[in-house]
Amino acid sequence: MEKKVLSVVDKRTGLSYELPIEKGAIRASDLRQIKTDSEDFGMMSYDPAFLNTAACQSAITFIDGDKGILRYRGYPIEQLAEKCTFLEVAYLILNGELPTELQLKSFVAEITHHTMLHETTKRFLEGFHHDAHPMGMFISTVAALSTIYPDAKNVHDPEVRKLQIHRLIGKVPTIAAYAHRNSLGYPYVYPDNDLSYTENFMNMLWKMVEPKYRANPVLARALDILFILHADHEQNCSANVMRAVGSSQADPFACTAAAAAALSGPLHGGANEEVLKMLDEIGSKDNVRGFIEKIKAGHGKLMGFGHRIYKNYDPRARIIKWAADQVFVATGRNPKLDIALELEKIALEDEYFIQRKLYPNVDFYSGIIYQALGFKPEMFTVLFAIPRTVGWLAQWQEMLQDPEQKIARPRQIYTGYDVREFVPIEKRTARAVAAAR
Ligand code: CMC
Repeated sequence: MEKKVLSVVDKRTGLSYELPIEKGAIRASDLRQIKTDSEDFGMMSYDPAFLNTAACQSAITFIDGDKGILRYRGYPIEQLAEKCTFLEVAYLILNGELPTELQLKSFVAEITHHTMLHETTKRFLEGFHHDAHPMGMFISTVAALSTIYPDAKNVHDPEVRKLQIHRLIGKVPTIAAYAHRNSLGYPYVYPDNDLSYTENFMNMLWKMVEPKYRANPVLARALDILFILHADHEQNCSANVMRAVGSSQADPFACTAAAAAALSGPLHGGANEEVLKMLDEIGSKDNVRGFIEKIKAGHGKLMGFGHRIYKNYDPRARIIKWAADQVFVATGRNPKLDIALELEKIALEDEYFIQRKLYPNVDFYSGIIYQALGFKPEMFTVLFAIPRTVGWLAQWQEMLQDPEQKIARPRQIYTGYDVREFVPIEKRTARAVAAAR
């Protein structure tokens, strides 16, 4: 049988090595045996931004970026978006299998049971300034939950873990809705346990004085689909943060807050808010060509375009475009869609974007739907964080159960000074300080 090894010859020493190949990868620690002498630390791989480093083995999400394929636990995203509810998909992502009717009923009941926030958390939210960014409120309030649930620190107990997972999935829509209402100065609306996950979220966002909130079923389904599409995306920036923080055995509220902070950046989940700002800046279809020329000349990026993994059309963007049409039947067409479509058309024909394989990603069209649903752009990333909480928790759980995982601690290649003689303060010069920077 063919041996799965990588043969390496170190031309510095003339020595050769055989590194085992497993699942298409070599272990970076196997490189350490490659040394010039016994004093040498050994060979490392250098990979800023993890362009080609697998940091874990995972059975949750599969992406083939060249073919534009996304699957949760083996199921194509298109089928899940068409046939499932968000909580059904959440169960799948967390437990590895689609639930039976009975399992789903009990999972939904569990999550619904945990939608309320402690009154002190409500008062914590009230402490934010009226124009606080909802994502800042979300991050801080999720972190604050760890003060309410000290049992969460027991991360090695599977039952305790499960309880925190249910608490977090139940409470994130409530936090998001309260952040929204705080910015409008409206009173908070308590969860309504008669309603589905997304209907209840809409209730907490938009109920006014009517005795019972009734969600528009088309809009509730569209929101459910958007939640399914955003639920997990393997080792993206925020999932990596969730695993890294979780590897120190911090509690899941602290880990989720850290992951949400990573999501808030404009190159990650914050891109959906930036897309809307960009479409506002462009203003009309006629200005699209000029805008694209500016991007090509190096003035900024086309937000909602490009992806580290997808070098083809993001399958989520295709489903969102379809969902947008359903939403617009109920809400009226968002005029920004015409600018977005024109932008996509011109970009996909342009050599700059073709050469770099830049296609619309999930954030390109999501903001247009969110705006049609009545959300302000500042809420868009929070809407991403609600379903992604499921993915973060599944990644966290998988990391804790993986016997190969330890505290995350990358190496570095030190490029600073070798040892130097200490300089007393009266002998230091400003030039020396500037040169040291
Ligand atoms: N507009 C214009 N040029 C771009 C863009 C863009 N959106 N994205 C990448 N490029 C260019 C980049 O300048 C580089 O060109 P060159 O080779 O001439 O230097 C080339 O394409 C490769 O880009 P990169 O920065 O090396 O790619 P990356 O894998 O490090 O970055 C990305 C991926 C998503 C951060 C980046 O494409 C980007 O900043 N996109 C805009 C922000 C965005 O939409 N983010 C949401 C990502 S999807 C959802 C999520 O992750 O939350």
